[in-house]
Amino acid sequence: MFNIAVLISGSGTNLESILNAVEKDEIKSKVVLVIADRECYGIERAKKRGIETYILDRKAYRDELSDSIYELVKDKADFIVLAGFLSILKGDILKGYKDRIINLHPSLLPKFGGVGMYGDNVHRAVLENREKITGCTVHFVDEGVDTGRIILQRTVSVDYEDKIEDIKRKVQREEHIAIVEAIKKLEVAYEGINQCI
Ligand code: GAR
Repeated sequence: MFNIAVLISGSGTNLESILNAVEKDEIKSKVVLVIADRECYGIERAKKRGIETYILDRKAYRDELSDSIYELVKDKADFIVLAGFLSILKGDILKGYKDRIINLHPSLLPKFGGVGMYGDNVHRAVLENREKITGCTVHFVDEGVDTGRIILQRTVSVDYEDKIEDIKRKVQREEHIAIVEAIKKLEVAYEGINQCI
C-alpha cells in the first residue's frame, strides 16, 4: 500500500473521486494528507473524512511554497497527486519526488497547457479554437509546466452548441475516472519497489 498526498486549490471533486476509490478498495493507496494553496471547499471534503489537512496560502508563502510542501509530505507520502492544484511546484520537491508526482490537466496535452492554462481558461481556448475533441490528461510533473510524460488521457466530444460550462462538465466526468486510473497505474509501476516511507 502507498501513501498519497493530494494537493488542491478548488472544490475538490477529483479529491472526492480518489477518496471514494480508496473507500471502495479500487486503489490500494490511501490519502494521508491534503494540502491546499488557498482556502477552498476541497479542504472541507478532506476534513469530513478525517484526513490531515493544511492550507499554505500561496500569497503568504510565495517562493517558499514548494519547499514548505516538501517538508510536510516527505516523511509521509510515497506519491503526490495534483488534483486541481493551481500553483507551480519548483525546486527540491521535483527531485525528491521524481516520477512520483502526477498532475491532472483539463485538456489533451500538449494542447492547451502551460502558464495561465487552467480551469475555464482551458475550455475557453478549446472553444475559440473550434476543437471537436477535448478531454483530460494525467501526466508526471517535471520542471516545465504541463510538459511531463503523459500517463493517460480521456477524451470527450465538443458539440457545436457547447458552452464553457458544458465542456467543463463533460471533462470533469472523465477526470474523475482518469485520476483514479492513473493512481492504479502508479501502484502497478511501483509494486515491488520499496516504498519510501
Ligand atoms: C480540474 O478540472 C482540473 O483539471 C483543473 O482544476 C479542476 C479542479 O477541480 N486543473 C487545472 O486546471 C490545472 N492546470 P476539482 O477541484 O473539482 O477537482
